[in-house]
Amino acid sequence: RILVLDFGSQYTQLIARRIREAQVYSQILPCTVPLATILAYRPSGIILSGGPASVYEKKAPKISVEVLNQQIPVLGICYGMQLVTHLMDGEVEKAAKREYGRAELLLDDTSDLFKGIGGGKTTTVWMSHGDRIERMPKGFRSIAHTANSPVAAMKAVDAKRRIYCLQFHPEVAHTPEGTRMLRNFVLDICGCKPTWTMSSYVETSVKQIREQVGDARVICALSGGVDSSVAAVLTHRAIGDRLTCVFVDNGLLRQGEVEKVRKTFAAQFKMNVRVLGKGREFLAALARTIDPERKRKIIGRLFIKFFEAEAMRNGKAAYLVQGTLYPDVIESVSFKGPSATIKTHHNVGGLPTRMKLRLIEPLRELFKDEVRVLGKELGIADEIVWRQPFPGPGLAIRIIGTVTEDRLRIVREADVIVLEEIKRAGLYRDTWQAFAVLLPIKSVGVMGDQRTYEHVVAVRAVTSLDGMTADWARLPGEVLATISSRIINEVRGVNRVVYDISSKPPSTIEWE
Ligand code: XMP
Repeated sequence: RILVLDFGSQYTQLIARRIREAQVYSQILPCTVPLATILAYRPSGIILSGGPASVYEKKAPKISVEVLNQQIPVLGICYGMQLVTHLMDGEVEKAAKREYGRAELLLDDTSDLFKGIGGGKTTTVWMSHGDRIERMPKGFRSIAHTANSPVAAMKAVDAKRRIYCLQFHPEVAHTPEGTRMLRNFVLDICGCKPTWTMSSYVETSVKQIREQVGDARVICALSGGVDSSVAAVLTHRAIGDRLTCVFVDNGLLRQGEVEKVRKTFAAQFKMNVRVLGKGREFLAALARTIDPERKRKIIGRLFIKFFEAEAMRNGKAAYLVQGTLYPDVIESVSFKGPSATIKTHHNVGGLPTRMKLRLIEPLRELFKDEVRVLGKELGIADEIVWRQPFPGPGLAIRIIGTVTEDRLRIVREADVIVLEEIKRAGLYRDTWQAFAVLLPIKSVGVMGDQRTYEHVVAVRAVTSLDGMTADWARLPGEVLATISSRIINEVRGVNRVVYDISSKPPSTIEWE
């Protein structure tokens, strides 16, 4: 495997990602881990990421020079390059001219790292640095330069050392040949075999889960979303009926959701699924609640009540399965320290510590699109594998104001229409989320010769990569027109539809 030591670059995840694309397993560790930990992973290669610091700053993150003396191939990227230079007694200096953005790289050596790159010996790369190498460490040689950096890439001449450094970022899309350079590093220089695939992932995780769990009982909160579904099916493959899946029907779900969950998990996969709730309790508890955060609290607390009761039945469960993904993990292991914005609302907040449950997180090494591939590999239907995210508090936070049976009916029916039309137009997979929101106002309309005074539905559709930022989807006018006329014609009590054209930030995806 390849270890990526993170010095705080915004691109660190991308490095890991590119290596996976070369079918080699990679893992990110904060740069502060001790040498012994690094060696315990027995890496075939080590990559030092970029980072915002300057090596001469007092608090600049460093590693022991011993990391470079292990005969393990090392690739230093940007800050990683400056750090190698600094640790090995070269000289780093503030460049008179900073380099940000695209640069033309002239290759002076087209062997190993640059093998097969730049027919004309130049290639475009993405630079982002203020410091530059003034004097290389002893035993290094420049292998590429740009107009502003005489040493844009270097390598140790001593064949035993196998240390390579790049001033630019090979991991970003703006360095078109970057993937090739990383491949050269991991496959040729580190000698890794391209064997990391999703089916090998299934095999190793099944084995790991079995070893971890022994014969204990395991519980899983199933939401029907892609992450929890894939995590549950994978765990089920490992331990079968010792896994109990809890699906809480809070009455705030979309049309047909309970049946879908039964069909997939109970019928298709023969999993042990307990559908609890039936919703009435949730609706009663929400009565007259307007404040969004209060809604979330009430729903969250009731959820935990149902979940705990189930976990204690027939002997306590010892493990909880969670669909935590790699981007969530990296937020907490990154050397910048745990970020304030870890998305606790995606998990069963507080439950593990309260119930002393240990965690099984079989997806913690994967990115979202890898989870989808894994889901397909496990035989999960496209409908789930490609499902858009849906918030835990459900339709309650898509009804602005109080939640009643009739208001739930309105958003639920409108939601069906929005999704049907988005799918019909072939836009479902390109849209991060699309849904209806019921507003707490009425407006005047005319139907036939009658004046109406009825509800307003807002349609929200956004594009996004991760839900952290989003843009409103430029849906074609005809699609919006069909959605609007269908909602007004088919959903009793609605006489007006508006389209939300705000991006996140400053708005959020959900209205509450
Ligand atoms: P916002 O509205 O914050 O949403 O832009 C970002 C993503 O998170 C989802 N979301 C939630 N998911 N519980 C959840 O499980 C919640 O309370 C919650 N609030 C927002 C939202 O649907 C979007 O995908």
